Amino acid sequence: MHEDVERILFNEEQILAGIDRVAEEVTRTYRGRDFTVVSVLKGSCVFASDLIRRIPIPLELAFVSASSYGAGTESGDLALNFFPAESEISGRNLLLVDDILDTGRTLARLVDELRRRGAAEVRTCVFLDKPARRAVDFRADFRVFEVADLFVVGYGLDFAGRYRNLPFVGALKKECYERSASTAR
Ligand code: IMP
Ligand code: MG
Repeated sequence: MHEDVERILFNEEQILAGIDRVAEEVTRTYRGRDFTVVSVLKGSCVFASDLIRRIPIPLELAFVSASSYGAGTESGDLALNFFPAESEISGRNLLLVDDILDTGRTLARLVDELRRRGAAEVRTCVFLDKPARRAVDFRADFRVFEVADLFVVGYGLDFAGRYRNLPFVGALKKECYERSASTAR
């Protein structure tokens, strides 16, 4: 698995230091208010589980799973595979947590959907941000690291379902994704 990685971008120590910084910002934002961390499956499960353990104030946890279709089309339809119950959304302050903000389509659509379903407030927190790839106007409220336009894996991020369990973030060797016919995004 490691031999498929061209180079390490963020090691475990750097990741935990970055998460500490963002956890403090999140704590300052929500101190004294009820909020729910909504982890976008599957990619953000590793990040969300480290992040919540560095936030020392009360919070609830929920999960959402969505696949965005039509990248490159106008529609950008969002298939909701799994969504929190209405009672977990309506009137709540939500912090939507994702692994990486790429084109921005997935998070933009999820934020709209959560607002449509009655969330009091929706903010977003991403582990990685790839601003060079943005296709819609979208900014995360919190982000741990910015990355260049490279395909990255590890720490929850996959290629074709693999590499999520790497404890670091690395750039995947070109031959690994060119070898595969699937784009797996
Ligand atoms: P978007 O912002 O709607 O384009 O999609 C974000 C999703 O695309 C993420 O949640 C990832 O699943 C996937 N993705 C985008 N860039 C990468 C990458 O470099 N490595 C792994 N997954 C990625
Ligand atoms: Mg993915």
